[in-house]
Amino acid sequence: MEVITEVDQMVEWVRECRAPRVLVPTMGALHEGHLSLCRAARDRAGEAGVVVATIFVNPTQFGPNEDLDAYPRQLAADLAACEAVGVDVVFAPQAGDVYASDASVSISEATLALGLCGGSRPGHFDGVCTVVAKLFNLTQPVAAVFGEKDYQQLAVIRRMVRDLNFPIEIVPGPTVREADGLAMSSRNAYLTPSQRQAAPGIQQAMVALREEIAAGKYEDSPSTAVEALEGRLEQVAGSESRVDYVALVHPDTLQPLESFWEDGELRYRLIVAVFVGKTRLIDNIGAN
Ligand code: PAF
Repeated sequence: MEVITEVDQMVEWVRECRAPRVLVPTMGALHEGHLSLCRAARDRAGEAGVVVATIFVNPTQFGPNEDLDAYPRQLAADLAACEAVGVDVVFAPQAGDVYASDASVSISEATLALGLCGGSRPGHFDGVCTVVAKLFNLTQPVAAVFGEKDYQQLAVIRRMVRDLNFPIEIVPGPTVREADGLAMSSRNAYLTPSQRQAAPGIQQAMVALREEIAAGKYEDSPSTAVEALEGRLEQVAGSESRVDYVALVHPDTLQPLESFWEDGELRYRLIVAVFVGKTRLIDNIGAN
């Protein structure tokens, strides 16, 4: 496995590479969720293709009071993990090499990025779109893999690819969960033992709500279901939990749901963000 740390080197490598590339963008602190994306990239690339993983804690997607400095960094362990799942090249640049100090161009998605995490984290998706566009330009992949755990991010990236005509297939990777149901996230490492014990309650409450919706408990009133879940999630870690948002949205448009049903089938995405202590956890599930 090759490790590239400089932008110029990456450009040179791509210029000489004849094989189709499949990209897995990450911010490092890799866990089984990321590794499943690398494996999906390996499958998509096949024997003729090359898997490029990027490890870059992107400063522009963090707000002023967020965890940029504290974000876990473990490059040596990440490189070993990438090698073990068949990544061919890791690109791990420095922020000063990726962004000019007087950079004045960025990319904004103006519809899907506004609510949900975009509402709570203003500017977050501008940072994500900008860095992902840079990584697309630098690695020129035929396909890129993004996890469904960040459901809104996946939708925003798909929209950017469509609207800016990036000739790149976006491959979704299913959310990977711990044995107790907690969605894997680099931020789970911030949880204290008691918070960690309580955190799977988020997914349990979401799944219980899905079952209630299917059983007709909320008739056809998504807003009543949202209120019920908010109440339960506020209790998930006692006084340590605080709901950032709960949303039932259309899976494609991310607009608030008016009916659980579409063309005779239950169709929605349930998306939540909950603070457990200081750690903001996100999760989402579909109607089935
Ligand atoms: O999902 C992430 O880890 C990041 O948002 C991404 C896509 C690597 C961009 O920095």
